[in-house]
Amino acid sequence: MTGSTAAARELKAGGSLKGRVRVPGDKSISHRALLFGAIAEGETTIEGLLPAEDPISTAACLRAMGAEISPIAEGDLIRVTGVGLDGLQEPDTVLDCGNSGTTMRLMLGLLAGRHGRHFVLTGDASLRRRPMQRVGHPLAMLGAEVRGRGDGNFAPLAVQGRRLRGAVVGTPVASAQVKSALLLAALTAEGSTTVIEPAPSRDHSERMLKAFGADLTVGGEMGRHIRVQPGAQLKGQHVVVPGDISSAAFWLVAGALVPGADLTVENVGLNPTRTGVLDVLEQMEAKIEVLNRRDVAGEPVGDLRVTSGPLQPFRFGEDIMPRLVDEVPILTVAACFCDGESHISGAAELRVKETDRLAVMARQLKAMGADLDETPDGLVIRGGRPLRGAALDSETDHRVAMSLAVASLLASGDSTLNRSEAAAVSYPSFWDDLARLRT
Ligand code: S3P
Repeated sequence: MTGSTAAARELKAGGSLKGRVRVPGDKSISHRALLFGAIAEGETTIEGLLPAEDPISTAACLRAMGAEISPIAEGDLIRVTGVGLDGLQEPDTVLDCGNSGTTMRLMLGLLAGRHGRHFVLTGDASLRRRPMQRVGHPLAMLGAEVRGRGDGNFAPLAVQGRRLRGAVVGTPVASAQVKSALLLAALTAEGSTTVIEPAPSRDHSERMLKAFGADLTVGGEMGRHIRVQPGAQLKGQHVVVPGDISSAAFWLVAGALVPGADLTVENVGLNPTRTGVLDVLEQMEAKIEVLNRRDVAGEPVGDLRVTSGPLQPFRFGEDIMPRLVDEVPILTVAACFCDGESHISGAAELRVKETDRLAVMARQLKAMGADLDETPDGLVIRGGRPLRGAALDSETDHRVAMSLAVASLLASGDSTLNRSEAAAVSYPSFWDDLARLRT
């Protein structure tokens, strides 16, 4: 997202929240369904794809390289006509990844092994500030050539497609984006590749690549070793995308905090690599029930009912971070409303997300009167102090926008939110859902 001249959104304080909400499709799974569909043979159909700015960026890049993807609109079944593993064409212009780190990082892996072809990737001001060497360096061990500003760290990036060779590669951070880039590159390498993560990150790529027919095995302690043997052709699939637990988290926290609230969030993906937020909410004694647990197309899914009640402060750190990395902003809001001190550590990765989320959340919540401090890798939040309405700013970050919207419900007066349209990066119908659920 870039800055905008749209008027600040009015956020009224007070009231309660009641009803059922179906959050849009999981962002991580949506990107992967488009990417893997594009390099498979035959047609992939996608049900529940997230119709938001980030997956739309992925689709646009893939179309520019010859994959056919039907228009992305809410509720539509999306059809991807794959070009096969080696069928992506050299685009005749720059690939624009918008605000999406997942698009850029997975594209690097996808394109690195396209021998003799040249690609240039860029994105918005936020994405051009985000570190890319964490992908470029491990890819170089397979023989990839990725160049960019700041010694290859920042977009615009140029990828000169090379013949890749398999390798055993350790990733520098527990990042599903880095891991997935390597797995995609490994599909086009000569010989097998093993990716070793410092800690397990979300495993949607592994699950979906296997379903598409890739020769991929997961082993080692806690599934941290992922091995890809190239050669298998991917075959188009029918993918059903569950609701995004990272979007559901806003309703879970709002439902737990707002007096009298009773919300049911339907069809939420409950992949265990993503459910850290539920563990923390349990630690806080939030009243959340998981209903109707089921398996949908290789991913666990359930409905989550939340009712409000008093919450306890929390403490979490590095160990759980990969399982709730995107939920730290909304959990910071939750901590403001519990009596006592909450501690977040091991969250240095938050500083290189769409914004420096530790700094931005601290700045914005302080404007509401919250008592919290940044540490180099986290936050200390002294909760229980009433928040007041304020002139807030998403600072272009979608998860900040939605987190501040939840905080504003509980403030003593009304707020305004500048750059609220950032929410459309992952949850375009957020403001409509909020208006509908308010009582
Ligand atoms: C994502 C992985 C996470 C997450 C991001 C989406 C993915 O990033 O923060 O929103 O789809 O792989 P990292 O893997 O860099 O931690």
